Amino acid sequence: MKIIEERIAAQLPLWRERVNHLRGKSGDFKVCDVTVSQIYSGIRGVQIQVSDISYVDPKEGIRIRGFTIDELMQELPKARDTKNPMAGGLYFLLLTGDLPSQAEAMAVEEEWQHRCLIPTYVFNSIRRMPPDTHPMTLLSMGIMALQRESVFARKYAEGANKQDHWRFYLEDAMNLTAKLPGLAAFIYNLRYQDGIYIPPNPDLDWGANFGYMIDRLKDPDYYDLCRLFFFLHSDHEGANVSAHTSHLVSSALSDVYLSCSAGINGLAGPLHGLANQECLKWLLDIRDQFNGYPTQPQLEQYLRSLLANGEMIPGYGHAVLRITDPRFTAQLNFAHENIKDDPLIDLVEMVYNTLPPLLMEKGKVNNPWPNVDAINGALQYHYGVTQFDFYTVLFGISRILGITAHIVWARALLKPIERPKSLTTDMLEAMVTQNEKANGVN
Ligand SMILES: CC(C)(COP(=O)(O)OP(=O)(O)OC[C@H]1O[C@@H](n2cnc3c(N)ncnc32)[C@H](O)[C@@H]1OP(=O)(O)O)[C@@H](O)C(=O)NCCC(=O)NCCS
Repeated sequence: MKIIEERIAAQLPLWRERVNHLRGKSGDFKVCDVTVSQIYSGIRGVQIQVSDISYVDPKEGIRIRGFTIDELMQELPKARDTKNPMAGGLYFLLLTGDLPSQAEAMAVEEEWQHRCLIPTYVFNSIRRMPPDTHPMTLLSMGIMALQRESVFARKYAEGANKQDHWRFYLEDAMNLTAKLPGLAAFIYNLRYQDGIYIPPNPDLDWGANFGYMIDRLKDPDYYDLCRLFFFLHSDHEGANVSAHTSHLVSSALSDVYLSCSAGINGLAGPLHGLANQECLKWLLDIRDQFNGYPTQPQLEQYLRSLLANGEMIPGYGHAVLRITDPRFTAQLNFAHENIKDDPLIDLVEMVYNTLPPLLMEKGKVNNPWPNVDAINGALQYHYGVTQFDFYTVLFGISRILGITAHIVWARALLKPIERPKSLTTDMLEAMVTQNEKANGVN
């Protein structure tokens, strides 16, 4: 897309020089040491990635291109009659680092509309799968099937100059992201709505269109929730499982489709993308156990007994954040403004008002506040998207916005293939023994 391509191209000389300068002058500077226990525990906390696209600030939550969620809720362009940002403007920001004007956000939306058609063979390949195939498998397959369309793969085979690889990645990224709402809606309708087909509405933006294509009731409030959800889940730094997987795969110059499908496969894992459905299940279990909904004192007693049994409360705590996740707050505000009389949403809020002091009393929980998953599922459930299996697909189509921004920039900055090193247990033990001898330890 021309205006994004020009905006990136204009910044590139400076960025490349900045990185080259850092590498040339301070290439030997140590960012951190790695311990044996970090090697055995998922290289947790080891800083292995630079991302100028987003950063999780413990005290303020995710910052996208330096802006907090609250700032972006104010600043990003909106579709008519809504308070929630359009994905087109968000994508412009993710890719260029610049806050878009209304016209620039609309230009991305229009570009997506031109590119949104999905080839029939993609739908056919999904249709052929057994009906109980997981929707995340279908999403990953759909993205893989689209790989045939990769502009980068074709240009690379024709001998494209390395300096220009990012331009073809950008082209692929625009094409893939344009097709995601239609692809996800197709999967939803095939799995849960007898395969109905609702074509996209040219008067709606990217996020709202997904809601439109799955929603038989045509509820504009749900379209607005889609806008909010896709905005809030678009990125979360560069080293989480899905972003890092896509980055790793793309470092082999695998194209955007191959890289994103790989990232989606990581997101499909229960330790990454499934927490929102766990949390909703937990809320519904409370409802079932009380044959309705508990009063506040009943809930407090119940939560105390869970904690006394050492149970984990889904939707609470975070490895990095030390505040209520602003993405939770944004969705709670949405609920206050748009939803009346839903006892499940009231339960979400009652847990929010009751649980944090109890977690604090335990003394060991580093963050007693809710993360985004404490409310995600309950909101989808309210609007009739009750199929838990599908929630990670929603997460996935949003997250590909961030992932593609990361990998376009990785190519733009000419990042080489990733190749860390492994060693054997023997080697590790020998290193430890040698160190102990050197320090006089018996
Ligand atoms: C998100 C999470 C994995 C962070 O883990 P972490 O960084 O190890 O968290 P902490 O450092 O605060 O953990 C310290 C202690 O508090 C406990 N704790 C943390 N979150 C808790 C929760 N939600 N309920 C009960 N206990 C909790 C931990 O089990 C740990 O106890 P231990 O020392 O006996 O093992 C964890 O809080 C969790 O599993 N939360 C629930 C699941 C969830 O919401 N996941 C989505 C995350 S975006």
